[in-house]
Amino acid sequence: MIKPKVVITRRWPKAVEAALVEDFDVTFNKQDRALTADELKDAVHFADAVLPTVTDRIDARVLDDANPRTKILANYGVGYSHIDIDSARTHGITVTNTPDVLSECTADLTLTLMLMAARRASEGEREVKTGAWSGWRPTHLLGSKVSGKTLGIIGFGRIGQEVAKRAHHGFGMRVLAFNRSPIAQDVLIKTGAESVASIDELLPQADFVSLHCPGGAANKHLIDCRRLGLMRESAFLINTARGEVVDERALVQALTFETIAGAGLDVFNGEPDVLPELRSCENAVLLPHLGSATLETREAMGFRVVQNLKDFFEGRAPRDLVA
Ligand code: DGY
Repeated sequence: MIKPKVVITRRWPKAVEAALVEDFDVTFNKQDRALTADELKDAVHFADAVLPTVTDRIDARVLDDANPRTKILANYGVGYSHIDIDSARTHGITVTNTPDVLSECTADLTLTLMLMAARRASEGEREVKTGAWSGWRPTHLLGSKVSGKTLGIIGFGRIGQEVAKRAHHGFGMRVLAFNRSPIAQDVLIKTGAESVASIDELLPQADFVSLHCPGGAANKHLIDCRRLGLMRESAFLINTARGEVVDERALVQALTFETIAGAGLDVFNGEPDVLPELRSCENAVLLPHLGSATLETREAMGFRVVQNLKDFFEGRAPRDLVA
């Protein structure tokens, strides 16, 4: 049987690349850099399947100009706001993603950011590494306690729920959760969270606000100047979702004038470029989109893509159908 042609846009962990070549005729991006719009057009014109990541913007122009041969975009990642779903539908292209397998690691990193921001870990490390540390003293780098505080979670899907479990059961935190659709009672019991009716109700009550909603136009600047103004002066904003959810210029103002205490960010608008003003904020902990970055998780994501592709090309409905 002729193997379907597959373009994989970045390098994956070895074990999953090996699994992929068993069943597919794979073209690799040997340079392991983000593909340009023209290269993406070539890919969807040439291959039966394209396996994009968050760094590949597959918009209407890419698909319209390409006369696509591609029948499935099997995304390596759970978030798919970089793919124009309506346009994929118009071209009859199936889209899949990789939910579940990265929820725990992304939740772990969310807690990492909460702890780093509240306990001023980056500032402390900078002191030690630059030789600027002058020794222990009672008032040195005083942060905020995390245990027992209130965490507000915006977006209560799989990742938000994993964060809630860790915060509530591990750190004894009160957890408030907002989700666009109602949260089932058994989910609230399992996670120890309390449901709130609106984001505006959640913000003034929270010591930490953590974002776990999808990116894309619907949630662009969900956290804007007005909503930052509803947060406590002592509160921290944590974002492991998508950069566009936060108005970063408004956030810089809030951090600079200390209308909030700090931020922990793993995602940025226009990444890998990061606003220079944000990079200068001492009270912001900034990480390079590491949410799912463990070997175990990145392998699991890859195997999930392989399974989605096999299902599709063998005539079954892929498990992780998005469109
Ligand atoms: C995800 O899975 O959405 C991660 O952010 C990487 O794309």
